[in-house]
Amino acid sequence: KTYSVAVIPGDGIGPEVIRESLKVLKTVEEIHGGIRFTYDTFDWNCAYYLKHGRMMPENGLEILKDYDVILFGAVGDPSVPDHISVWELILPIRREFQQYVNLRPIKLLRGLESHLRYKNHEDLDFIVVRENTEGEYSSMGGRMHSNTPHEMAVQNNVITRFGSERILHYAYQLAEQRSKQRLTVATKSNAINHTMTFWDEIVKEVGADYPHIDTELYHIDALAAYFILKPETFDVVVGGNLFGDILTDLGAAMVGGLGLAPSGNINPEKNYPSMFEAIHGSAPDIAGKGIANPIAQIWSVSLMMDHLGHPDLGKLILDGIEEVVAEGEVRTPDLGGNAGTESMGNAIVSKIKEL
Ligand code: NAI
Ligand code: MG
Repeated sequence: KTYSVAVIPGDGIGPEVIRESLKVLKTVEEIHGGIRFTYDTFDWNCAYYLKHGRMMPENGLEILKDYDVILFGAVGDPSVPDHISVWELILPIRREFQQYVNLRPIKLLRGLESHLRYKNHEDLDFIVVRENTEGEYSSMGGRMHSNTPHEMAVQNNVITRFGSERILHYAYQLAEQRSKQRLTVATKSNAINHTMTFWDEIVKEVGADYPHIDTELYHIDALAAYFILKPETFDVVVGGNLFGDILTDLGAAMVGGLGLAPSGNINPEKNYPSMFEAIHGSAPDIAGKGIANPIAQIWSVSLMMDHLGHPDLGKLILDGIEEVVAEGEVRTPDLGGNAGTESMGNAIVSKIKEL
């Protein structure tokens, strides 16, 4: 089977970590004789913007739409405002290709200590499913009464039955595949009385299709506290766009930081490409030094293999990452070592070949 991959390395450390993740895909081809990847690389980044006045060509989405998957590094450079670089490249891809699931594992690798020092790695192993297309990140709203004491801004939170049902079905089906058979749902219906009560109703309806899954509904403020106090009780956590965004940065901090945090922007129906990217940005402060941690990007490739229907290979990649981290000999500075991006990538590749 051959998979077509559109690669968008982006800016800063994006290309540095993408390079290591492509080595891992090459290793996958070597191990599994039946899988091939073909690549096309697109230079859509801030330099492209400065030259062409846009982050991608006018027909950029048209170009991307027939690939099986998109591998994305990170964009952002001090020379271009962030609302342009991020909003005009990543968000159109997520929306146009109906990548309505943002999947973010929160898992503490063996050999690492959490900031929650009283928790060990078995206690921190769950996955957050964030709604990726609607909710609070709608552009609907406006400003009024400017230059008066009553100046105000309104931004609508868009919750649709369609959008909520599909994300909840996805989350329940993911929970069915995991050990605890539990789904934790973020809400705030005690205070947000239109959208969140509607969301709660849909949770009840969809949940009726999964009677064997234990559903827990928590208000977001309490849930944030439970992330810290009892993370071992979670298995799959689902939330809207804003709550999911905040919870996953909290989760990333609990398990070692941005250098380790992967994500998948997934279109489960596979009628458009899904996109895999580290959660972190282009890290201008360390770009060009060759010290970025490539794990977040390599782990994203592991999620990509799961999505393509090869969970065994996804697990193999994650096992390789975890083994290298646990041995502790090769670590980038963010993990307290002095290895560079390339040695870290090479160590993971050798480990995958060994396993
Ligand atoms: P950032 O994630 O780039 O960096 C935050 C901190 O984490 C920095 O100190 C950085 O050195 C460190 N860090 C990040 N990734 C690392 C890695 N792999 N290894 C070691 N350390 C790592 O976030 P920041 O600084 O707020 O944003 C920088 C640029 O990236 C901005 O232009 C921003 O808009 C953009 N950005 C892009 C994203 C994307 O492409 N999806 C996501 C987040 C930010
Ligand atoms: Mg974020």
